Amino acid sequence: MSKRLPPSSPIVRSIILLSLTLSSFAAAQVKSLDAEGHQWWQHAVFYEIYPRSFADSNNDGIGDLNGISSKMGYLHDLGVDAIWITPCYPSPQVDFGYDVSDYENIDPMYGTLSDFDHMVSEGNKNHVRIIMDFVPNHTSDQHPWFLDSKSSRTSPHRDWYIWRDGKGPGKPPNNWVSLFGGSAWNFDSTTSQFYYHYFYAQQPDLNWRNPAVEQAMLDTTRWWYKRGVSGFRLDAVDTLFEDPALRDNPVLPGKNAQGDPNMENKNNTNFPEVHDELQKLRKVADESGAVLIGETWTSNVEELDRYYGHNGNELQMPMDFMFMMVDKLSPSDYRQQIAAVESAHGWPVFVINNHDRTRSYNRYGDGKHNDAIAKLMGAFYLTLRGTPIMYYGEEIGMENNDPTRREDVKDPIGRTGWPKEKGRDGERTPMQWSVAPNAGFSEKSPWLPVPPSYRTHNVASESQDPNSVLNLYKKVLALRHTNEALLDGSYSALNENDPHVMSYLRSYKGKALLIALNMSATPQKATFDLSKQGLGKPTLKTLISSGASTNGNQVSLEPFGLMIAEAH
Ligand code: NOJ
Repeated sequence: MSKRLPPSSPIVRSIILLSLTLSSFAAAQVKSLDAEGHQWWQHAVFYEIYPRSFADSNNDGIGDLNGISSKMGYLHDLGVDAIWITPCYPSPQVDFGYDVSDYENIDPMYGTLSDFDHMVSEGNKNHVRIIMDFVPNHTSDQHPWFLDSKSSRTSPHRDWYIWRDGKGPGKPPNNWVSLFGGSAWNFDSTTSQFYYHYFYAQQPDLNWRNPAVEQAMLDTTRWWYKRGVSGFRLDAVDTLFEDPALRDNPVLPGKNAQGDPNMENKNNTNFPEVHDELQKLRKVADESGAVLIGETWTSNVEELDRYYGHNGNELQMPMDFMFMMVDKLSPSDYRQQIAAVESAHGWPVFVINNHDRTRSYNRYGDGKHNDAIAKLMGAFYLTLRGTPIMYYGEEIGMENNDPTRREDVKDPIGRTGWPKEKGRDGERTPMQWSVAPNAGFSEKSPWLPVPPSYRTHNVASESQDPNSVLNLYKKVLALRHTNEALLDGSYSALNENDPHVMSYLRSYKGKALLIALNMSATPQKATFDLSKQGLGKPTLKTLISSGASTNGNQVSLEPFGLMIAEAH
């Protein structure tokens, strides 16, 4: 006879709890995978927000978390599934947040932790997930860890950073230069040693060879997952480790904008140990079903491939910056880049803008057809096989607004590198919401000026114009969320010898979408024979177009025209 246990017995309670946990875990797993085994982030559209510049709820001229919360409806309607917020932790703002002085809090200028919780819940209501920016390479020099570290050679945190004796009086330990100018070593008179900083002197590098550092950083990610974040964008991962012997870097000919000798960063970037740490960060992320996005600067696809890890145990989403760096409307270059990333062992991640690069509106624009080109680039990278990461304002064709006088520059590298390097202010200006003063971003003069083009390029005006950049983005994003060929289909390059028209097929279980993009300033015609794909000479049915028409299996494209069509 089986003995019945009362439901309140600890064994029964733990069995119930275990089976509930397992079934909800199983349900979550089943729900998050589609027929192709795709995870949520493979179907999601990500959107980068520079919090200083998105929306200012308290009218102090600087954006904030409540501002972001107030725009969740806009983000949802646009077709955004996850926002990556650049650092909003407490920070002296030397590098506008990338100098973190407390990893587990919110800078008062952006709000409070309860504003953060409110943002997560507004995000949940609107199906917008929150991705935080994680800065593992360095802290602020005002972080309590560093303040303790520099206080004495025997302080508990001394070995959390990289301290060394110089080669002699006033001589740093080696020839490494900071990315932001000058020696990568800063002398600290309290303990008469140099500390290492790959970026600004106010951003000392953490010593990842110290297990206590690793533990503290892994715990930080756990802390945020518990608070509701769905993942992290990992900053500057290739710089986590450096040669323990501190060998000099090879010097190359010429000088950079900061006047430093060009250098091959052989001994202070891309150490294999980075991958061990990414695997550990990934294990923690997997406990919460979270995604890791990488700021992964690579010079070839083999390097990019390494970031996915063996059997996909590192970053799910290393950004393919080689695609962003094509920097010209060149079908042949794009075909090459896409073929390369398609050959990697992970899911492609496409980006055309971020807070460190001149906006695509200016990089690709020819001054005459900029709106058409903005639409073309949107229709392009949002229909590739992979996950796109947009940058705020890209969807309305926001342009760069570079400072014209050195004294107006906020980003320190723009002051030290002037006039060759004007800094990154131009791509970080306030989001243009309307024709109201300050583009509707704030009632107070914002921290960076909006360009005059806000009068035509803003959310309110473009929402009313069916031919706006915004409406093109909305249509493409809506199609991306519903069309199976875009969600799950393969990618095949078409007409590979055409020097002007970039075209490709996305197909899934007999459903095919053909995308044709005129990357030139002259009208073009493209004819398609899809015999290889089993579709013969297709009949094209337009779904979305701008400056284009179809006739049977032919597409006619105006300068920079675009066509997204079903192929039957
Ligand atoms: C990369 C970030 O994108 C950039 O804005 C920052 O200055 C450096 N990392 C240093 O954190």
